[in-house]
Amino acid sequence: MCQKAWDDGTRAIAATSHQNPSWPDATPNAIHHATRELRRRLHDHGIPLAVYPTAEVMVGPDTEADLRAGRLVTVSDQGCYVLIELPTGLYLDLRDFVTNLVTLGVRPILAHPERHPELLRSHSTIDELIIRGCLVQVSARSITQRRDLLLTAALKAWVKRGVVHLIGSDGHSPTNRPPGIFSAYQRLAHWSGWGVADRICSTNGMAVLEGLPLDIPRPLPASWGSFLRS
Ligand SMILES: [Fe+2]
Repeated sequence: MCQKAWDDGTRAIAATSHQNPSWPDATPNAIHHATRELRRRLHDHGIPLAVYPTAEVMVGPDTEADLRAGRLVTVSDQGCYVLIELPTGLYLDLRDFVTNLVTLGVRPILAHPERHPELLRSHSTIDELIIRGCLVQVSARSITQRRDLLLTAALKAWVKRGVVHLIGSDGHSPTNRPPGIFSAYQRLAHWSGWGVADRICSTNGMAVLEGLPLDIPRPLPASWGSFLRS
């Protein structure tokens, strides 16, 4: 997977484990150990890819307490950002959760919100999460897929409004969902220019991996006109 990512143009990657009830062994110690082992193997194979320990945390009733207690791995373990996802097939109102995490000093990054019609179809809901301090990460394959025209139109409108801050490869294996974001980078550039594509696929990601602050503007207002033109 790392070789594929490297060949695709990726130079730094969040080595992301799921942290949710299905993966009880994915403890912070285990994730750090596995990341060190991965770095060793990359060195042995001559792949100079930078990898950072990270987890994709499924939001649940104990997430905030788990975060305070150090049972969750934040992005690069820097304590500045945490990658979160909603439970599969379930929509939760994240407004208070986002505010509580931001107050704690940890900024949430919401993975693949495009899977949830409640977020994709209601611009005011996703906008409010962003205004409260949440970052939005869309999966590369959602950008590059060409079968769902409504999804494409909605994501294009999101990108043009400044709703999308990061791209995730959602890489799961070398063959099934392999990593690779270059095609998404090209499509983003086609939609909104190279500057936007660079920011979403590179600059913002490196800031997050390094635990640097990000100044995210409010999303532009949605309008039927911009949606239809997109
Ligand atoms: Fe996920």
